[in-house]
Amino acid sequence: MIVASNLKTNLTRAQTSSYLMDVENFLDKTNVKQEVLVFPAQSSLAVHAGQIYQGAQNAYPAKNGAFTGEIGSEQLEEFSINTILIGHSERRHILGEAQTLLVEKFHYYKNLGFKIVFCVGEPLEIREEGEGVMMKYLELQYEGIDTSYENLIIAYEPVWAIGTGLTPTLEDISKIHLALKEKSSAPLLYGGSVKIDTAKDILACEGVDGVLVGSGALAVENFCQMIRIAQDLEK
Ligand code: PGA
Repeated sequence: MIVASNLKTNLTRAQTSSYLMDVENFLDKTNVKQEVLVFPAQSSLAVHAGQIYQGAQNAYPAKNGAFTGEIGSEQLEEFSINTILIGHSERRHILGEAQTLLVEKFHYYKNLGFKIVFCVGEPLEIREEGEGVMMKYLELQYEGIDTSYENLIIAYEPVWAIGTGLTPTLEDISKIHLALKEKSSAPLLYGGSVKIDTAKDILACEGVDGVLVGSGALAVENFCQMIRIAQDLEK
């Protein structure tokens, strides 16, 4: 399974480095064989050797250039980073990134062979409109991306579940995942308020290939514990 930690705008460079080191030590010690991804804040990116895939939370679809406040593929290459998160709901809804820009990023980083974690998810008002409207909304978020790209991972993260402590029921998670799996056979992660005490049930859901965790993975011991749960469950 895939266990991913999105550190968002948290942890300093030194704290991130010790976080990565602690996870590597855990993986070495336990001989866990899960795919582990960590997305540090941009200023904490650094060369990292080990089992973890270190990824960027965002990058502009260009090698370099006049894109104030952004980083490009040249800055990622400096640290041998070839994993990226695209379309996280905070990029879509707080930073206002439109599907067209996300599609541009997708193709730019796909052409470089990056492992891409592409996020989809519906806001509460869409979910309240019913299943048909919700599935249509999610479908539009797949528009323009190559769903058969070999290095694609999709993360289903309901916007209303992110950072709120709310999660869909396990039945809903399975149902939505199985429906989304018809759109792409890429591994499908669940994200949105996954915590140490809910990780097992969520990971065990049919159609769930892993989790993308924010606040629940900020404490490194909790993240390691989730990796262990995935290992124990190994489907
Ligand atoms: P959360 O964040 O676990 O804090 O809800 C998940 C995410 O945004 O990827």
